[in-house]
Amino acid sequence: MVSIRVFNEDFRKLEVSQTIVRDLMVLDDKADTMFADPPDNIKLGYDEYDDRLEAAEYIEFLNELIEFGLQNARTSYISFNAKHMTDMGVLLKAFQCIYPDITVRWLIQGFTFGQHNKSDHGNNFRPIIRITTPETVLRPDAIRRESWRLKNGDKRANPAGKVGGDVFFTDFLEYARVTGNSKQRRSYHPTQLHEGLVHDCLTMTTPDGGTVIDPFMGTGTTLRVCKGNGWNCITSDISEQYCNEVVEEHDLWSHPKGGWITTIE
Ligand SMILES: C[S@@+](CC[C@H](N)C(=O)[O-])C[C@H]1O[C@@H](n2cnc3c(N)ncnc32)[C@H](O)[C@@H]1O
Repeated sequence: MVSIRVFNEDFRKLEVSQTIVRDLMVLDDKADTMFADPPDNIKLGYDEYDDRLEAAEYIEFLNELIEFGLQNARTSYISFNAKHMTDMGVLLKAFQCIYPDITVRWLIQGFTFGQHNKSDHGNNFRPIIRITTPETVLRPDAIRRESWRLKNGDKRANPAGKVGGDVFFTDFLEYARVTGNSKQRRSYHPTQLHEGLVHDCLTMTTPDGGTVIDPFMGTGTTLRVCKGNGWNCITSDISEQYCNEVVEEHDLWSHPKGGWITTIE
């Protein structure tokens, strides 16, 4: 049985281990994977959250998010805006001094189209960091895809397919930005990640029946991917409106201890 739990909560107040013990019926106190897509601090019009923190405040926000991931998940992914790469690198270096057994891998989400810029390069990518701990189990076979060689009958091709690289681009799956006319698009929210991208990150580090946390639910992309793949999901958003949209879409019911829940056999 898979459990989906939604909280209308600031992620810093989420009690992940309590939720796992209470609802997800496992004896462990950590999720397998955290997937986080925090606001970019670019003055986007979210319902509740004001996306314009002072630079130092935003760095502290990222700092708290990295710590939250380390405390609550075996593996953490954070997707963020390229303009914060320098700050993120400095933060991660400091975390590696405190937690010397973590490793950091940089992944890239490439867009098939980015914002046009007449005076400089356009913006065509978004970084994703993946933090692994000694408890991480990587499952590269889960992300094998038919390779170019296999498609073209090349005898040298591995019949099992090829493990994807660290750039998520259009050579394997469509990882494009979710545009207005995409079937995935939920128009009540200003940004949304592609389900294929979230799926490939999660499946690399989440076993069958495992548990995922997403502290920035938005339209519930992670929740939808978890539902479709038999993973438990704990997700939260500070916006009541976004929570209500997701509760309605997935027909969740109120939980006596707060938030909403559904279970799937
Ligand atoms: C970039 S969006 C996430 C979009 C999501 N990945 C998707 O594909 O739909 C960030 C979300 O974080 C929420 N948020 C901002 N600060 C938060 C906080 N402290 N705790 C929980 N949610 C927060 C915002 O309301 C917004 O919906």
